[in-house]
Amino acid sequence: MNEPHSFPAYYDDLALSFEEAWGLVSTGVTNRHSPAHMPVVGTIDALGVPQMRIMILRGVSRDGRTLRFHTDSRSIKAEQLRQNPASSLLIYDPTAKIQIRMSGKTHFMTTGDIADTAWSTSTPFARRCYMAEAAPGTPVAKPSSGLPEWIEGKQPEEKLLADYRGNFAALLVEIETIEWLYLANAGHRRARWQWDAAQNTWAGRWLIP
Ligand SMILES: Cc1cc2nc3c(=O)[nH]c(=O)nc-3n(C[C@H](O)[C@H](O)[C@H](O)COP(=O)(O)O)c2cc1C
Repeated sequence: MNEPHSFPAYYDDLALSFEEAWGLVSTGVTNRHSPAHMPVVGTIDALGVPQMRIMILRGVSRDGRTLRFHTDSRSIKAEQLRQNPASSLLIYDPTAKIQIRMSGKTHFMTTGDIADTAWSTSTPFARRCYMAEAAPGTPVAKPSSGLPEWIEGKQPEEKLLADYRGNFAALLVEIETIEWLYLANAGHRRARWQWDAAQNTWAGRWLIP
């Protein structure tokens, strides 16, 4: 005999699904145990190959339609983004059984208020990553963290970190599409929202899962 199903309020409600999607993504900033804390971020390399990696979600602005990440301005992804700002994000929350895919354009910021604030509000330990002497991805003859030996295992002082500010970049992904997939035995639900710049609004619709 089939068990009766209980559905979340957003199951058949497009507007509530949209709310839930942003809510789930936003939780990633404040709750480091949330799956949205570590999305997969995709870029396109010079050969057109999709390149993906985990990144920590640092900020979300629903009104601004942006997600913020931090990275090394010398990294391989940084070069990819300079050539092609197209980016995508992937999150799966296994408890909620919700997959969220987002895509948009990344604004690469090494100077300005957003990057400065992102730098100064990061912990010294997090900023230590930017002290690597060679660019991330540089081939080396023997295993290495890339950090100067004297700082390994130590927390750098604030005044010392200032010298490395140039290696830091904030990435702001301007979201243009959001895709939602909710898994349910009774029937999955899939939806997609596209930012309509002319109307200054999101246009959403259900899709066949
Ligand atoms: C849990 C976890 C969190 C990570 N967070 C970041 C991050 O916030 N920023 C970043 O640039 N790389 C982060 N990385 C490293 C990237 O996944 C990737 O290995 C690195 O940035 C090099 O990528 P690229 O060669 O495409 O530039 C993280 C990796 C893991 C496993």
